[in-house]
Amino acid sequence: MTHWQGIYQSKALDDVSWFEDEPTMSLQLIDEFAGKPGPAVDVGVGRSRLAIRLLDRGWHPVVALDVSNAALAHIAEIAQPTVDLQLIACDILQWQPQDRVTLWHDRAVFHFLTDQQDQIQYVELAMSTVSPGGTLVLGCFAVDGPTQCSGLDVCRFQPGDLAALFSAGFSLLASAQQDHRTPWGSSQAFTWVVLRRHG
Ligand SMILES: C[S@@+](CC[C@H](N)C(=O)[O-])C[C@H]1O[C@@H](n2cnc3c(N)ncnc32)[C@H](O)[C@@H]1O
Repeated sequence: MTHWQGIYQSKALDDVSWFEDEPTMSLQLIDEFAGKPGPAVDVGVGRSRLAIRLLDRGWHPVVALDVSNAALAHIAEIAQPTVDLQLIACDILQWQPQDRVTLWHDRAVFHFLTDQQDQIQYVELAMSTVSPGGTLVLGCFAVDGPTQCSGLDVCRFQPGDLAALFSAGFSLLASAQQDHRTPWGSSQAFTWVVLRRHG
């Protein structure tokens, strides 16, 4: 995935559409719905502070996973060194987690999986990785959101689409719409869902 490595090697922090100072929406949903802290993963962490904010709230260990080493190097630079932060450079579809998590977070990664088989593989991985009773917080472009991001095609979703895709292992707990403002002031419509692992 040289595409993402190239992005992080060439673009400043606020030179990408998905930049946000603070992962406010993610933290609101996690604080409201995810319950007591435990092991967590941020899938496609990029240069987001979410993994660090989770550590601050007592989540541990926190896996910050991204296909780009350059993104993870940034996280290593801004985080306090701790064994509770595990940086994993890998394609999410190749990840073989050693342990389960009680929180799985993904902002703006799943929507890049435009192939149905890849979506199925992602859902199966989430099902086997999130403990029963655990929470999955997922933010994707909404149906009136962009059709591309970073020059790549994306899928767009309503809450019901995501609930249906994950229904074999998860129940819909809550959903939200968000108008994300890019650093250059344009608007991107996001759909968020909070899913509870059943079983
Ligand atoms: C739009 S950015 C979002 C970054 C971060 N979640 C945020 O909210 O700022 C998408 C991120 O997913 C990563 N990514 C894309 N495809 C991936 C994959 N198949 N496996 C792991 N990471 C991936 C990219 O490197 C990038 O950091």
